Amino acid sequence: MHQKWWMESVGYQIYPKSFYDSNGDGIGDLKGIIEKLDYLKELGVNLIWICPFYDSPMDDNGYDVRNYFDVQEMFGSMEDVHELIKQAHEKGIKIVLDYVLNHTSDEHPWFIESRKSKDNPYRDYYIWHDGRTVDGHKIEPTNWGSFFGGSAWAYDEVTDSYYMKIFSNKMPDLNWKNEKVQDAMIEVAKTWLNWGVDGFRLDAVSHLDRAPFEDAKALPNEKYPLDWFKFSNLPKVHDYLKKLNQEVFSVHDCVAIGEVGGSASIESGLNYSAFDSNELSMVFSFDHNWCNNLSDIINPKKLKTNVKDLKTVFNAWQTAFKDRGWLPLNWLNHDQPRLISHYGDYKYPLQSGKMLATVLHMMRGTPFIYQGEEIGMTNYPFDDAAQFNDVSSIAAYQYYLEQEPDDPVKALKRAGLRSRDNARTAMQWSNKLFAGFSYQKPIPLLNPNYKKVNVQKQLKNQNSLWYHYQKLIQLRRFSIQHDVITLGDFELIETNDELYVYKRTFQDQTLLIINSFSRKKQSFDVSPYEIVETLITNYPKTNIKDQKILLKPYESIVFKVKEIL
Ligand code: GLC
Ligand code: CA
Repeated sequence: MHQKWWMESVGYQIYPKSFYDSNGDGIGDLKGIIEKLDYLKELGVNLIWICPFYDSPMDDNGYDVRNYFDVQEMFGSMEDVHELIKQAHEKGIKIVLDYVLNHTSDEHPWFIESRKSKDNPYRDYYIWHDGRTVDGHKIEPTNWGSFFGGSAWAYDEVTDSYYMKIFSNKMPDLNWKNEKVQDAMIEVAKTWLNWGVDGFRLDAVSHLDRAPFEDAKALPNEKYPLDWFKFSNLPKVHDYLKKLNQEVFSVHDCVAIGEVGGSASIESGLNYSAFDSNELSMVFSFDHNWCNNLSDIINPKKLKTNVKDLKTVFNAWQTAFKDRGWLPLNWLNHDQPRLISHYGDYKYPLQSGKMLATVLHMMRGTPFIYQGEEIGMTNYPFDDAAQFNDVSSIAAYQYYLEQEPDDPVKALKRAGLRSRDNARTAMQWSNKLFAGFSYQKPIPLLNPNYKKVNVQKQLKNQNSLWYHYQKLIQLRRFSIQHDVITLGDFELIETNDELYVYKRTFQDQTLLIINSFSRKKQSFDVSPYEIVETLITNYPKTNIKDQKILLKPYESIVFKVKEIL
């Protein structure tokens, strides 16, 4: 294995709109990120992934790009980007940008041209198709559903035909079969690398190829079934990525992390990112993101983590990638519920938060912290559907409401539990007005719990979640355990389904990572080990009796051990 800088990094994901507002218009911005670089350095991360700030009409908060080479006004200017790259580099922080290559905005000049006429030179930049006539009505070319609800096709009057859009209507899908599209998008990546960025997170990259346009299987009454297999992880994606790799990624010392939704199996994960794949450096997959009963409940207090599933998923990916590839490690991103609300325990936020952090940061891979995770920010308490800003949350709410028109409260709760807006609330910097995020009323939602949960408060308390994250990062990056934490082999230890215990080994070093996901007391037999040292834990004292560790609620301990043979 050839060791790369990104294997020794700890990442932090920034959603610019809600991170920090430097000029008081209520919206986070690039200068705001610059102002917080010292904060990030103190936390210890050395890589930031910044979500899109490109010029955009903001239908999907910037994932609908109008101009890849310019900045959306509310975020600042190109000068700010150059300054951000420069200052981050001076502080030893690498910059990874979102590379949105499945679609553009419908306001992108290519699409404006493309929709003009069937023989426009840009027509083939997008995926156009005639509709079908069924019983005298014009309908979409296929019944495929889109991620944000409704059809995966949008009708365009100008040429009386349909364009494909697997996200929103304002996000037409690029036609990657067209070499001109490939080359134009290669140019985008090259330009940003020349401007100094250190790599990309490739947005929605598994969707670049489509199945033949045939209807998907639908349930009775289901008009637009969402069948991921029609546009996920299909063969040509690999051709496109090999080309990108050859012309761009392999030429620069950069990192390329693919977002591979669409039930990417471990096997396809390896196809994308094994060391010998010649495609990507790593892939963000999602198998570990929904290991709970979220879809069955409406009361968040009834949420229960399925630890068995979670362990199975982690173990499978960690094991398959051993010696063959590298994984990013993250609990959430800007599309998912907040960690404490999702897998943590609202009765034990501090203990469960620290435990979850340890679970993730001690595995093999490159950890990514999502902004606010380090202080345990929680989901937003939605009490009005008008609070949803995210295009997919609005669609989800409407969908639930259509299912049960008499129960808007239920629809609100269901949409709220999953809403992507949960992760997009304003960062809680202090207990001051507007949480220190801005000196004006924030445009993003602000969670009312900011007086209790904020950065300033946690920096004053050595026992806070923030310091736990800092310590985990220090252990990985700077301690003598660096090698075993970064490179060590991973081995799951059999236990009951309240515990997640694993071992890491590298040469003569062994770490034992013991985590309880339970409110009840648990025990774990440590007789096969000689405990050398405790590296990090979330309770002041560890209780060991008769070679058994007696674990308190959500207790988490990392021991340096020697195995007794
Ligand atoms: C990815 C992004 C998400 C966005 C979608 C379309 O899944 O993470 O936020 O809506 O792609 O670009
Ligand atoms: Ca601003």
